[in-house]
Amino acid sequence: MSSTSFNADEHKNMLRTYFNGQGFHRWASIYGNDKLSSVRNTVRQGHAVMMDKAFDWLQQLGLPEGATILDAGCGTGLFSIRLAKAGYQVKSVDIASQMVDKAKADAIKQGVKKNIEFEVNTIESVSGTYDAVVCFDVLIHYPAEGFAQAFGNLSRLTKGSVIFTYAPYNRILALQHWIGGYFPKKERRTTIQMITDEQMRRAMSGAGMQVDKREKISWGFYHTMLMSASHN
Ligand SMILES: C[S@@+](CC[C@H](N)C(=O)[O-])C[C@H]1O[C@@H](n2cnc3c(N)ncnc32)[C@H](O)[C@@H]1O
Repeated sequence: MSSTSFNADEHKNMLRTYFNGQGFHRWASIYGNDKLSSVRNTVRQGHAVMMDKAFDWLQQLGLPEGATILDAGCGTGLFSIRLAKAGYQVKSVDIASQMVDKAKADAIKQGVKKNIEFEVNTIESVSGTYDAVVCFDVLIHYPAEGFAQAFGNLSRLTKGSVIFTYAPYNRILALQHWIGGYFPKKERRTTIQMITDEQMRRAMSGAGMQVDKREKISWGFYHTMLMSASHN
């Protein structure tokens, strides 16, 4: 696919700015305990369902205690902290320093800071090799070309599995986006980028990976595809 319209650096700068400001407050309240509108509450619940399923899948990989997991785009650290509590050695990376600061503060509060290495960095620039990589609700912010690039980077960071979410193309949701947004207007802040099956297949084969598991999670206004992939 050509790179005529997608500018990776510009797109990342836009996301960095958003997730360091308005986006931080919006998502930190969804991932926290604040009282939410009924729409956002379904996003919180759907996200929790997704994380439970992803955690089961990760445990089914049978990695030994102390195995290294990269949480790419860790946000406020919900999954990283859960991994650390389960005995994994975690590297938590996010493009937004505000997210990393919050994740670090929560890890300290919950007594697992020593099992997590935090870094303000991007999927594209993080280094190392990990026993598995997780990346939740990050790739949903990237259009097809950026999605393929980011997924390729994630796959290079492990010889094991990448467990991640993306927004599969859906005609009805596409129409809702077109009409005016995925969320009702006052709830809307970011555009969700949907990926077609063909775009997904191309990203997978470009990364030399295959799909091991997939499950669609739909809960109110939260719609995502959870996938586990490994190298061919
Ligand atoms: C919707 S939040 C999800 C956070 C977390 N994964 C979760 O599910 O709780 C998306 C996160 O991805 C981060 N992000 C977006 N693009 C990124 C990139 N290229 N590298 C690292 N983090 C990125 C944002 O800063 C934000 O914290």
